[in-house]
Amino acid sequence: MHEGELMRSKLVIGNWKMNGDQATINGLIADLSKTEVSRLSELVVCPPFLYLQQVGNSLSQSAVKLGAQNVCQFSNGAYTGEVSASMLKDLGCEYVLVGHSERRHVFGESSQQVFDKASQLIEAGLVPVVCVGETLSERESGITEKSVAEQLSFFLTEQGVAVLEKCVLAYEPVWAIGTGLSATPGQAQDVHRFMREHIGSRVAGVSARLQILYGGSVKAGNAAELFAMPDIDGGLIGGASLVAKEFLAIAEAAGSYKAT
Ligand code: PGA
Repeated sequence: MHEGELMRSKLVIGNWKMNGDQATINGLIADLSKTEVSRLSELVVCPPFLYLQQVGNSLSQSAVKLGAQNVCQFSNGAYTGEVSASMLKDLGCEYVLVGHSERRHVFGESSQQVFDKASQLIEAGLVPVVCVGETLSERESGITEKSVAEQLSFFLTEQGVAVLEKCVLAYEPVWAIGTGLSATPGQAQDVHRFMREHIGSRVAGVSARLQILYGGSVKAGNAAELFAMPDIDGGLIGGASLVAKEFLAIAEAAGSYKAT
């Protein structure tokens, strides 16, 4: 058992990506708002920006928290089409994803941008969920750890550590996202342990406390095995978070939901 493991609670975050409309989202939140979440862990959903207010209002009396999928790296001003950290805070968000592989690979976001976004979020009092992960060819070339370490490097500078301390990390192998090909619990645990040790070798006192989520084809059927790994502190759930029953079963596997 790792030092500090007992201090880390489980966290399960649903990333709805660019899915849904007012009607389907109303149906999903009607089911989620009945959820009773244990105090030992947290449950969060990240709807598309446009629906944040609708979802936030509907979930305000529930234990499910609100998150967003992205944020601008600048604080305010002439940035057409962007959404700032303070706007997300204003709407009641608590968590915000940064550096999701779809942002890095489809929209060309750099690790510097990801770090700048996380810094904006901390300044606004929000928790960044920093996603990192290797591509299939990186895994096949044996450079998974190198790739993950590079994506974390901005967070391991003197200035970066102050940001890192307030983040949640998510390990999401790119080859496992939306493919149905989850990493095995052992494969995921190996990278999670590497991340904790790598961070621990650069800065003292942070890594044992950091929550590191696993993401990539997590389903009700494999969640419990993944969450049982000593360095896996919950999950970042894409496709399965769009089906309330499936998402709640995953939450239950993390101990964050009690069927009532
Ligand atoms: P998935 O997505 O669960 O659909 O694989 C995970 C993610 O992109 O966070």
